[in-house]
Amino acid sequence: MAVKSTLKKVKRFLRGGCVPIYYSLRSRAVQCFKLKRLPFLPHKIDIEPIDMCNFTCDHCQVTHWNRLTTRLTPERFKTILTQLPGLLSIKLQGMGEPLLNKLLIDMLEECERRGIDMEVTSNGSVYTENIASRLSSLRRALIVFSIDGATAETFEAIRVKGNFKAVTSHVADFTRRRGKKPWPRIEIRTVATLRNIHELPDIVRLAKRLGVDSLTITTLLTDWGKAEMQDSLAPINVSRENSHTDQFIEEAEKVADTINMPIIIEHGQRYSTLNRCIWPWYSSYIAANGDVVPCCIIADSTVAKMGNLFEEPFSRIWNNEKYQDLRRRISSNDIPHYCRNCYGMTPIAPANER
Ligand SMILES: C[S@@+](CC[C@H](N)C(=O)[O-])C[C@H]1O[C@@H](n2cnc3c(N)ncnc32)[C@H](O)[C@@H]1O
Ligand code: SF4
Ligand code: SF4
Repeated sequence: MAVKSTLKKVKRFLRGGCVPIYYSLRSRAVQCFKLKRLPFLPHKIDIEPIDMCNFTCDHCQVTHWNRLTTRLTPERFKTILTQLPGLLSIKLQGMGEPLLNKLLIDMLEECERRGIDMEVTSNGSVYTENIASRLSSLRRALIVFSIDGATAETFEAIRVKGNFKAVTSHVADFTRRRGKKPWPRIEIRTVATLRNIHELPDIVRLAKRLGVDSLTITTLLTDWGKAEMQDSLAPINVSRENSHTDQFIEEAEKVADTINMPIIIEHGQRYSTLNRCIWPWYSSYIAANGDVVPCCIIADSTVAKMGNLFEEPFSRIWNNEKYQDLRRRISSNDIPHYCRNCYGMTPIAPANER
């Protein structure tokens, strides 16, 4: 009995600490050696359960696309898992609201059975007794709720068709239900824009009141690799040079300190030879229809499609010409057009100006 429990602890330690560090170092090492064909598969993956939403947030590409809805089935999900042995973690969310796929929780429970860590971000609108009780039983999960305002007025102007009172009461109920257990971890995620920056300190207070474990505030806005999204994003994008942005972020940090609310502030980083993208060396994004896309910053196969894993094995796609070319271009500072505004919408200087 004691041997079994020690083995279990060692396994948990290796999976939680050593193995992810080893895998990350391995990806960095092969990137340094400019390997384009990788001798290993991703250890992390994003899988999109559904590609439609019940909200219409203007800064999100889902609002602007017009396509028939695809829902991932648990059978197809298992096919993906079979093609990707050795996964340590899965983000089971892409574009759209993941909980609109009624079979999402079956897929999460499959991850739990297989000992794979999972993460889901939700708009917090789809909430029933069944959903809440099954989600709160997941030991290996991080459940994230997107909240972009501390008042109904701001929240509902950004998260169009969302209801502030309903979403915040769902989060409060979920944290109450989870109680003192350390799992699942519960987080709030806020995309900071010029429309809500003044409410950041109050969002910190709200996160504390709702009882979540942490709050992540990101100033990183993606244009999803699409020129047509830039016009609508530019006016709301907070620039790091803007002193008002700094002022509200500093105030939010002070409030967090005072009320003891763990927060993470994510700023976009400018691309440089020291800050190269590592995604195509360790992870990938699988759309609901099986299309393979380089990352969640793009998340749309009409922008970049590497293949489709229901049509050919992922192992072949992972080292095909397109993936090799992407790795070569990132390694030689000749990034594709869709990567140009990654890293916080900071325009990237041409390679010869860096
Ligand atoms: C695409 S949504 C999908 C999950 C779910 N529907 C939600 O809103 O949480 C995932 C996250 O992306 C954020 N997001 C939406 N548009 C964005 C953009 N242009 N740049 C950065 N993040 C964005 C959302 O606020 C949310 O936290
Ligand atoms: S709720 Fe999420 S997926 Fe839906 S439009 Fe808003 S950000 Fe996009
Ligand atoms: S958009 Fe390009 S640079 Fe950014 S994460 Fe994706 S692959 Fe990497």
